[in-house]
Amino acid sequence: MRLKDRVAIITGAASGIGAATAQLFAENGARVLAVDLPRKGLADAHAQHAGIATLEKSVSDDDAPDAIIGAAISKFGALDILMNNAGVASNARAEDMSQADWDRTMAVNVTAQFRLCQRAIPHLKNSPAGRIINVASVMAEGTDYGLAAYCASKAGVAGLTRTLALELGKFAITANYLEPGAIRTGMTSGLWDARPDVADIWAKKSALRRLGQPIDLARAALFLASDDGGFVTGHGLVVDGGLMLRV
Ligand SMILES: NC(=O)c1ccc[n+]([C@@H]2O[C@H](COP(=O)([O-])OP(=O)(O)OC[C@H]3O[C@@H](n4cnc5c(N)ncnc54)[C@H](O)[C@@H]3O)[C@@H](O)[C@H]2O)c1
Repeated sequence: MRLKDRVAIITGAASGIGAATAQLFAENGARVLAVDLPRKGLADAHAQHAGIATLEKSVSDDDAPDAIIGAAISKFGALDILMNNAGVASNARAEDMSQADWDRTMAVNVTAQFRLCQRAIPHLKNSPAGRIINVASVMAEGTDYGLAAYCASKAGVAGLTRTLALELGKFAITANYLEPGAIRTGMTSGLWDARPDVADIWAKKSALRRLGQPIDLARAALFLASDDGGFVTGHGLVVDGGLMLRV
């Protein structure tokens, strides 16, 4: 019960890392508002879990900060943990990328994180142990063909979160970001099911010789959210099984 009576918001919680984290947080005593897009099976994903309330909302809607933070406050009366996990992939060479693709990637992956953090801060200041956990990627530091928008957005998450850590430390709020490696989730399983050879390459690249699972990230998020992570702030926690050790 490492999060007893804490209130958490987790975005992108219908699937993958967000769904696993919502459930692990709830099992550890948190009251969780799980947020995802409509028609993604959000309520069904958490139907068996008391302690998880759901809200269907796009994080990039204009009114998303008010709607999401407001829902947590009206349901639970407080906010201790904001985990900005919702994200989208993008894959196009920079020369060919449409402005719309660039804008959508930035809007969901980084601008929405900023806007939700900004709206959450007054409430996190009232928490004895406020926590911001933003999900970036190892691609905040590395890159590959076609990842200009994705990498730019995830590097933006890192810069945003380090600055939040600096500005909010005096209010006992920590701000950290996760850097997942190759994790089997909704974002990746379509490709990897169709191309098991590609999944195998990613697995073999990691020192631990396996793909990551959502629970691997959920456990890292639990560390950052709980008292165990209380003196960790401004940190990018790489959870990649050693994928990035070799250049
Ligand atoms: N899977 C990986 O290998 C990997 C690696 C590095 C980083 N990440 C990051 O992890 C985070 C979680 O992704 P995942 O891998 O669990 O994928 P996923 O597709 O299983 O989950 C992402 C969730 O975000 C939701 N979402 C997308 N746009 C949204 C919006 N506008 N509003 C609300 N919800 C929205 C999706 O509906 C989905 O349920 C993302 O930020 C992703 O960039 C994933």
